[in-house]
Amino acid sequence: MKKVTVVGSLNIDHVLKVEKLPLKGETIISNNYNLYEGGKGSNQAASIGRLGISVDMIGKVGKDIYGERLIKNLSKSNVNVSGIIIDDTVSTGATFITVDKNGNNTIVINPGANGKLTINDIESQKNKIISKDIILLQQEIPKDVISHVVNISKHYNKNIILNFAPAIDTSNDTLSKVDYLILNEIEIAQLTGVTAISKNINKAIKKLRNYYSNNIIITLGENGSIYIVNNDKIIKVPSYDVKSVDSTGAGDAFIGGFVLGLIEGRNIKECVMWGNAAGSITTTKLGAQSSFPDKEELFFFLKSKNINN
Ligand code: RIB
Repeated sequence: MKKVTVVGSLNIDHVLKVEKLPLKGETIISNNYNLYEGGKGSNQAASIGRLGISVDMIGKVGKDIYGERLIKNLSKSNVNVSGIIIDDTVSTGATFITVDKNGNNTIVINPGANGKLTINDIESQKNKIISKDIILLQQEIPKDVISHVVNISKHYNKNIILNFAPAIDTSNDTLSKVDYLILNEIEIAQLTGVTAISKNINKAIKKLRNYYSNNIIITLGENGSIYIVNNDKIIKVPSYDVKSVDSTGAGDAFIGGFVLGLIEGRNIKECVMWGNAAGSITTTKLGAQSSFPDKEELFFFLKSKNINN
């Protein structure tokens, strides 16, 4: 079975449930505050591990209770954590998330240790890249580290997945080496400068095609996802009707389902369907990693929607 390495962030999420998201200058009361394990890198590793795939994580945490908690939780999700570096000069990454009654959220991140991940750290863990098949990255770690990992992965002919989240000014050279570029509506708008994406999708793709020729997957939340392969035909894959409680981590769960499809040799449409299903299940529970499905739950959900697995 193909093996995955995730290079990315680990955060502790401070989650406040509120009736509605606060406006600028407004003070509101939350009746529910909780801490959850998060960070796009660690979420995606957990989501993949929970689906029964062999996965390693490379990243950095501080020498504190939060770093310890994140590592412990990843281990419980079957992630090999030996590539997570503990740095006693910095604190673990933290995010502050407000979630409204419809499951919409806002997220503010303090990168902490994630911002201290270096090219030397990657070199010390290089074997975890060379010996695996799929290398998965997001963008909550320094830009030079992302480029370095992509260059090593390309050199050794790995399958590279880049989740363009959050949107940063990644170089065109780095992007051009990626096999699957996964982004949401906001991120593709930031990357291409094309707004009102639902109406202007062709325009955005045309711009991207100046420097990127591989697979594009755009997640659209409750409106499902679309994918574009190299013939530029746009294929829509609907989402599933569920009662959403908290959308935090749904994009990360999507990637878990998508990677499972890839590893099981499914076509890109099925991979996107499995991603949509994993994302939908995640929105029905509070928190990120605490809501990811295992393989049994994912396949049960797909069957209940009459989708073969
Ligand atoms: O994708 C969701 C994640 O983004 C949260 O867990 C938070 O830590 C931020 O990194």
